[in-house]
Amino acid sequence: MEITGAIEEVRKQVKEWRRQGLSVGLVPTMGYLHEGHKSLIERAVAENDRVVVSDFVNPIQFGINEDLATYPRDIEADKRLCEQAGADLIFHPEAAEMYAPDFSTYVEMQKVSEGLCGKTRPTHFRGVCTVVCKLFHIVMPDRAYFGQKDAQQLAVIRRMVRDLDLDIQIVGCPIIREEDGLAKSSRNTYLSREERKAALVLSRAVFLGEDLMKKGERDADTILAAMRSLIEQEPLAKIDYVEMVDADSIEPLARARGRVLTAMAVYIGTTRLIDNFIMEV
Ligand code: PAJ
Repeated sequence: MEITGAIEEVRKQVKEWRRQGLSVGLVPTMGYLHEGHKSLIERAVAENDRVVVSDFVNPIQFGINEDLATYPRDIEADKRLCEQAGADLIFHPEAAEMYAPDFSTYVEMQKVSEGLCGKTRPTHFRGVCTVVCKLFHIVMPDRAYFGQKDAQQLAVIRRMVRDLDLDIQIVGCPIIREEDGLAKSSRNTYLSREERKAALVLSRAVFLGEDLMKKGERDADTILAAMRSLIEQEPLAKIDYVEMVDADSIEPLARARGRVLTAMAVYIGTTRLIDNFIMEV
């Protein structure tokens, strides 16, 4: 496995693989890799001849009061995980390699990026779309892998690929959880012991919502009210949003119908965590 911070090196390597007729998968990440990322890499390894993992804490997707400066990093551990998972190349650029001082071109999306996380993080998806678009152009993969953990991000990327006619297959992968249910996240490392316990309200609310829908409940207000009241019982939790939307358009639903995404963002202390479930009804 190789690692490089240079765009030109990635291009040279991928061109050589292409010359050999090999297919290429890309797994974009911000590093501090865990089992969730690993599941994406393993899927990519199973479906492509060569796999590139990008490991880059993308500054432009963080808001001014967010955790860019404290976002956890451990490139040595990331290298080991990528090697184990069977990746071929890690792209680990400095911010200066990705963003010239006079960088001025952004990918902006309407609607799909405006609800849910887009409300609290108004410039977030512009940063995500821009960096993912750049990564797509640097690597030119056949397939790119994203987790349903960030369900709105997945919808946004799919929409960008459709709207801009990018010739890349987007593969969505299931949420990987800790044994007790908490969705794996690099940000879980911010939680104190007490907060780690409190964070279980997210997955509990997900399982409760799932259960209600499995039992036939379709009314969004009923399902969301039950989930909210469960979360509100936890003193350390503060709800950002709990909503039911169409999984592709991210438009709010009054009744569950089609591919339904029920998603939440909840502050546990100062850490903002997300979780969700998707159900076809
Ligand atoms: P990051 O948060 O590092 O996540 C990288 C990928 O791993 C995303 O597609 C995310 O959905 C997936 N992932 C994270 N936790 C997961 C879990 N518990 N189960 C399954 N998949 C999980 O998302 C980003 O980085 C960035 O926004 C990025 C797309 C790299 C652009 O900067």
